[in-house]
Amino acid sequence: MADRLKGKVALVTGGASGIGRAGSLLMAKEGARIVVADIDATRAEAVAQEIRSSGGDAFGCTVDVRDSASVQAMVAASVERFGRIDVLFHNAVSVPLVNKHDRRITELPEETWHAILGLVLTGTFLTAKYVAQRMLEQRSGSIVLTATVDALIGQAGLDAYTAAKGGVVAMTRSMAAGLSPEGVRVNAICPGFVRTPHQDIFLSDEKQRATIESLHLMGIMDPEEVAAFALFLASDEARSMTGGIHVVDSGYTAFKANMDPVAVFKR
Ligand SMILES: NC(=O)c1ccc[n+]([C@@H]2O[C@H](COP(=O)([O-])OP(=O)(O)OC[C@H]3O[C@@H](n4cnc5c(N)ncnc54)[C@H](O)[C@@H]3O)[C@@H](O)[C@H]2O)c1
Repeated sequence: MADRLKGKVALVTGGASGIGRAGSLLMAKEGARIVVADIDATRAEAVAQEIRSSGGDAFGCTVDVRDSASVQAMVAASVERFGRIDVLFHNAVSVPLVNKHDRRITELPEETWHAILGLVLTGTFLTAKYVAQRMLEQRSGSIVLTATVDALIGQAGLDAYTAAKGGVVAMTRSMAAGLSPEGVRVNAICPGFVRTPHQDIFLSDEKQRATIESLHLMGIMDPEEVAAFALFLASDEARSMTGGIHVVDSGYTAFKANMDPVAVFKR
């Protein structure tokens, strides 16, 4: 066990899978007590059990971040069990909902728009609202919201997801400004493509995989790489960092094409 989060309590939504699972395990390794919060109760408890088996302290908490009462119950259960919440690492999203149902605007059903905005943007609002209320009482806390590079540059066919995550990015800044007087920090991470269970479908298709690889300068990322940056933002090492929109994207937003225009003039 290391101690970068020693004595802290971290609430990780979407903690049963992918980036949230990696964050739960890493933050536990760094000494935090973990609330593994997810709509999938069985897998959340499995991650909590994994943490306990390695000598950490954690419990699985069932939550639907779209539902205010459920979010408030999650906050109450966290405080009842561990007494406080120092870190929120918010990841909860249904990746299949986005991947299978989002569309470009002209073909985007209104119900899909509402479903994605309700989950991604309202889910972030509800979770951050009720956790931050607790953090204000403590006069400290670090909120880390997982956004996406798609909130920063265009991605055809994902008009609801990009709008919702764009809202998360904008909210990160205004929440940071609003909550700073009481010592609560808010940051967003914008990952590029991350190898998580529901994204495997893209990687098993050779053509898709080659395209995705060509867009990431240092290769396709693992969830642990995003978790490592979340850990830093959660820790006191980042005590002055707030309102930041941090790309963790293997260079995805750094370039437009891997070509060498200068070579043309050398011909
Ligand atoms: N994987 C990527 O390529 C990638 C890239 C950029 C951003 N992201 C973002 O990272 C975050 C995590 O993505 P991931 O790939 O690890 O996904 P994942 O599917 O592996 O994990 C998401 C978790 O959220 C849970 N969840 C779904 N709906 C919920 C709800 N209503 N309430 C509570 N929990 C719910 C799921 O059960 C699942 O365990 C998401 O916010 C996603 O938008 C992912």
